[in-house]
Amino acid sequence: MIGLAVVRRLAEMGHEVVVLDLRPEPADSAATGSAVADVTDREAVRKVLLEHEIETVVHTAALVATAQRDPVRAFEINVGGTLAVLEGARAADVERVVYCSSRAVYGDVLGADPRGSAPRISERQPVNPKGVYDVTKVAAEGLGRNYRRDHGVEFVALRYGSIYGPGKDVASHGGFGILSRMVEDPARGRPVRVERGGDQVDDMIYVEDVALGTALAVTATSVPETEYHVSSGVGHTLHDLAAAVEAAIPGAEIEIGPGLDHVGFGIDYYAVLENDRARRDLGFEPEFDLRTGVADYLARLAH
Ligand SMILES: NC(=O)c1ccc[n+]([C@@H]2O[C@H](COP(=O)([O-])OP(=O)(O)OC[C@H]3O[C@@H](n4cnc5c(N)ncnc54)[C@H](O)[C@@H]3O)[C@@H](O)[C@H]2O)c1
Repeated sequence: MIGLAVVRRLAEMGHEVVVLDLRPEPADSAATGSAVADVTDREAVRKVLLEHEIETVVHTAALVATAQRDPVRAFEINVGGTLAVLEGARAADVERVVYCSSRAVYGDVLGADPRGSAPRISERQPVNPKGVYDVTKVAAEGLGRNYRRDHGVEFVALRYGSIYGPGKDVASHGGFGILSRMVEDPARGRPVRVERGGDQVDDMIYVEDVALGTALAVTATSVPETEYHVSSGVGHTLHDLAAAVEAAIPGAEIEIGPGLDHVGFGIDYYAVLENDRARRDLGFEPEFDLRTGVADYLARLAH
């Protein structure tokens, strides 16, 4: 999901991009090269980095939807894969590794409001991982910090807000896919019913803004901090998202139950992520609000 948008964005900026994935590259990728490999295979990753003389890695590969059910595989891919990327980067003199992290590192956000309003947090908020996925993200970030300190790899972790955009289906993203379902089902003429969570405030960001923030982390002359929020910086509820969908698709049938925690993991993930750091150091400025994000999403689905 994120990878495709980042590849397109970097290609548009004039960069040559090589994709490494378990699966062959999709036909709509703008990459100039590709390799089919498992990111946990340290030797294979090192070879790809060396062969293509890679300067910067954007490390996206991860297990998301099934991490809780399969902690062993989650650690192999999310932590072992990051280790392979960092080791490969060290061996191949890669300058920078941009790691796709998540607000999931904060896990249960301390101080979450039981009435649903989300606390505003900066990157200084203590991490408090709860789920297996959250723990893998904290571990991967921790490894990256060590490679930055001791092994000359400029590691930077981007902690994204709740992303919506094409490709974020429930099969690959579990409960995290709910935002995309609220756009894609009405686009296909299907009603959507969300059991609960209409009172929950959250930070929702469109995947094209994620791609922008990620591309800026690749191209910035320096990244003084190790962690950055790539987020909207604004709090919204599912009702706000529904209003944006209804504005674009008159007559869309969207029903949202009351209460909190629409993702349904029983973890208070919800927070508004302040993005002042990314604005200051990366020049990041989100280009989309919910209405323009949903409109762009629908236009891309129609193609
Ligand atoms: N989508 C979100 O809302 C979100 C939010 C915060 C953080 N993130 C993080 O961003 C990253 C990318 O997320 P996404 O939504 O694009 O995920 P995705 O599932 O759409 O894409 C992940 C890609 O990694 C590949 N992959 C998985 N295991 C692999 C392996 N062992 N070897 C090689 N390739 C492998 C998959 O084939 C897939 O193409 C992940 O690290 C995720 O944790 C995503």
